[in-house]
This record gives sequence, C-alpha cells and structure tokens, in this order.
Amino acid sequence: MSTATHGHVRAARPSDGSAILTLEELFPSDRMSMRSVRRFLHAANARTWIAELDGAVVGNLILLMRKGSHVARIYSVVVAPQARGRRFGERLVQAAEAEAAHLGLQAISLEVRADNHAARALYAKLGYSEAASLPGYYEDGGDGLRLRKAIHKR
Ligand SMILES: CC(C)(COP(=O)(O)OP(=O)(O)OC[C@H]1O[C@@H](n2cnc3c(N)ncnc32)[C@H](O)[C@@H]1OP(=O)(O)O)[C@@H](O)C(=O)NCCC(=O)NCCS
Repeated sequence: MSTATHGHVRAARPSDGSAILTLEELFPSDRMSMRSVRRFLHAANARTWIAELDGAVVGNLILLMRKGSHVARIYSVVVAPQARGRRFGERLVQAAEAEAAHLGLQAISLEVRADNHAARALYAKLGYSEAASLPGYYEDGGDGLRLRKAIHKR
C-alpha cells in the first residue's frame, strides 16, 4: 500500500486554512468563515487533522477541548465526495480519539443530523452511542443527535 494511493491523515498546518475552508463549503448548513478556520488552527484548545490523497487535502476534522471539561467535542468532520469510502472519515476520528486519550480526556461528544446516514453509520461503527436527541438543532430546523464515546487511556 503506498501513501500516494491510499492517502494519510496528519496534523493540520496553518497553511491548510484555505483547503479546509473549501472542504467546509461542502456542508449544507452551519458553514464556517475563514476567520474561524484560522482561529481553530491557532487555538490552544483546538486540534485539526487533514486527510491527504495524492498531495491534495481531501478531508479534515476539528476537535475542540474546553477548559475544566473531560469531554472533547468533534466540531467538524468532512471528506471530499471524490475521496469518500477510503476510510478517511474513520482515520480522522481515530486520530481525534488518540489525541483525546493522550490528553487524558474521558469522552468525545459530537452532534450529527438525524438524517445523515453516512455519518451516523461511521460513528456507530466506531462505537459512538446516542446521548441526547436535539429536535430542531440545525439552522434549517433539521433535527440533531448528540453522540458520545468513552475514551480510555492508552
Ligand atoms: C461522513 C463522512 C465524513 C464519511 O467519510 P468517509 O471517508 O467516506 O467514511 P469512511 O470511508 O471512513 O467510512 C467508514 C465507515 O463509515 C460508514 N459509512 C461511511 N459512508 C457511508 C455511507 N455513505 N453509507 C453507509 N455507511 C457509510 C461505514 O460503516 C464505513 O465503514 P465500512 O466501509 O467498513 O462499511 C463523509 O461522508 C462526509 O464528509 N460527509 C459530509 C460531511 C458530514 O456529513 N460530516 C459529518 C457531520 S457530523
């Protein structure tokens, strides 16, 4: 398996900002501004990973930590349509879990649209379970779910 064919996941660099913004524009709602992408790339309480395939950025995940909280939150995860189905989503979430374990955190939580079958299947596969239902959570009135997974020290 060569990296060029199968890609890899790495920590984001400040220069990845515009590639991340382009990916975030794939989201149907709750889009991010360049300003917030830059803020995440520099914030001490945020970690961002990039999926790269053939030298191009094809995915990203942003993990947020809160002072005094043992729960980290996956703020955003997206894989470009042409790169889906290659386990990038899975590898991005696993990178976030490894960091949460490294930081000694107890759990990861996230919100997902109730009708987002691909994302729900991804999180179910990785052991996330429903912690709350969030009716009308999204800007367009769409329902959400809060998912959570306990993280164990490695
Ligand atoms: C959700 C998303 C990140 C998945 O990325 P991906 O790289 O294609 O996913 P992976 O290849 O890592 O898939 C891992 C597992 O997730 C599940 N999965 C992923 N896409 C799926 C789909 N379209 N249908 C059903 N299950 C799916 C499968 O269980 C898969 O494992 P398998 O291949 O062993 O069956 C991607 O579809 C995406 O970017 N969607 C738009 C943005 C979004 O919805 N983000 C999540 C917001 S919470």
